[in-house]
Amino acid sequence: MNIAVIGSGYVGLVTGVCLAHLGHRVICVDNNIQKIKTLKSGKVPIYEPGLDKLIKECVAKKRLLFSPSITDATKKSLAIFIAVGTPPKESGEADMVYIENVSREIARCMTDYKLIVEKSTVPAQTGEKIERTIRKYLPEKYRKLEFDVASNPEFLREGSAIEDFMNPDRVVIGVNSKKAEELLREIYKPIKPKMVVTDINSAELIKHASNSFLATKISFINAVARVCTLVDADVLKVAEGMGLDKRIGRRFLDAGIGYGGSCFPKDVEAFIHLSEKNGYDFRLLKTVREINDAQKAAFIKLIEDKMWILRDKTIGVLGLAFKPNTDDMRSAPAVEIIRALQKEGAKIKAYDPQATANAKKLLKNTIYTKDAYSLAKGCDALLLLTEWDEFKTLDFKKIRKLVSHPVLFDGRNLYHEHNLRDLGFEYYGVGVA
Ligand code: NAD
Ligand code: UGA
Repeated sequence: MNIAVIGSGYVGLVTGVCLAHLGHRVICVDNNIQKIKTLKSGKVPIYEPGLDKLIKECVAKKRLLFSPSITDATKKSLAIFIAVGTPPKESGEADMVYIENVSREIARCMTDYKLIVEKSTVPAQTGEKIERTIRKYLPEKYRKLEFDVASNPEFLREGSAIEDFMNPDRVVIGVNSKKAEELLREIYKPIKPKMVVTDINSAELIKHASNSFLATKISFINAVARVCTLVDADVLKVAEGMGLDKRIGRRFLDAGIGYGGSCFPKDVEAFIHLSEKNGYDFRLLKTVREINDAQKAAFIKLIEDKMWILRDKTIGVLGLAFKPNTDDMRSAPAVEIIRALQKEGAKIKAYDPQATANAKKLLKNTIYTKDAYSLAKGCDALLLLTEWDEFKTLDFKKIRKLVSHPVLFDGRNLYHEHNLRDLGFEYYGVGVA
């Protein structure tokens, strides 16, 4: 099928490339001209494992093109996926300005049937608004043109985006017509997914509810971790014991420094806002958000308590990205934690395998090193903030000799089993003894 994907960021680019890999002919569009130039030159503007290889393959097979023009891509495509950003406004409400702009642009160049698919995460009832907008902005002589709007929320995670897209637990489609359903079934046919077919509002809500539920699970275990600290219990054991119950499951029960990234914080906010706007006070989610904020604050306080005075102390930060295997720094807990320590006068050194370039735009007065060992040199304490694989196998005997003082604050409980105390480290995890 000829498909356009509007917005070539973390989701749009992965969606476009994967659809091309499945055999469709895809045009990825972005209004960031630099991004399109980068993609056309064979480079990839983001770090996502496996993406560069897949792009090369699809481009070579002439199934994947990049374009700055919505008009061009719309004219050549039957299905048009919208994958632009839906960032939070100051109020927490999702900002639909990019979605509305794109809808108008698509409408203006429509001359035959199109299926317009929301891939971005949007509040319930957005589909109706897109449909109305398109109808309104269709060229005069095409006012009665047939088209469909559908919702097809995306559940991929950064860092494992290709694997998640190709092997999804489910594909959710919200449709108003049999034709839209059939077209979406055809698009996803090669991966034989479990399909959940609903009305558009329910599909939109499934996405907000899923992200909010996962965020709730994380805040729940973080709250449990706080209690563990108070009663001398071990949150890793608690999570193991709870997680073996199939009704609960072990995944997303990792206590730490709170969830970050471009989605959980924004989508929890947006869901609270949507509910409130429609007359429901979603207090549970307000508490989820509060616990998440408190988790970072508690970690900062732990460091301040144990280090006593931070002025002129050198702190080495292992990991900056909001999670491993991505260069994404959007709402990364590292930013708030580092800024708070800098405010107290600490000198920050930092190392991340992929996120340094993005971190430099957010965190000034920070020394960025090329690896974990040059980071450790002369540090009064180390912080583990992102659990990259390469940090799992660090040589702590070597690090012990490099640091000024062997103190480690482990924001992800990565080294709980490493017996660092036997190597002479002062070790602090989250909710573990
Ligand atoms: P992103 O910021 O990485 O990408 C959005 C892209 O859209 C940018 O490249 C931007 O230049 C482009 N854009 C904006 N306006 C445009 C226009 N008028 N024409 C063409 N391009 C335009 O954002 P993202 O992380 O890919 O997220 C996109 C959406 O997908 C959001 O709603 C997000 O909540 C949702 N989502 C994200 C993830 C994720 O892991 N990042 C997963 C599932 C869903
Ligand atoms: C999340 C969801 O997992 C995806 O299904 C969804 O598509 C996506 O949001 C989205 O809508 O954008 P992502 O943000 O890429 O994906 O990454 P996650 O693996 O979910 O991690 C999110 C945050 O939660 C990270 O900061 C991570 O460190 C934290 N986390 C995760 C925990 O603190 N504990 C856990 O047990 C799991």
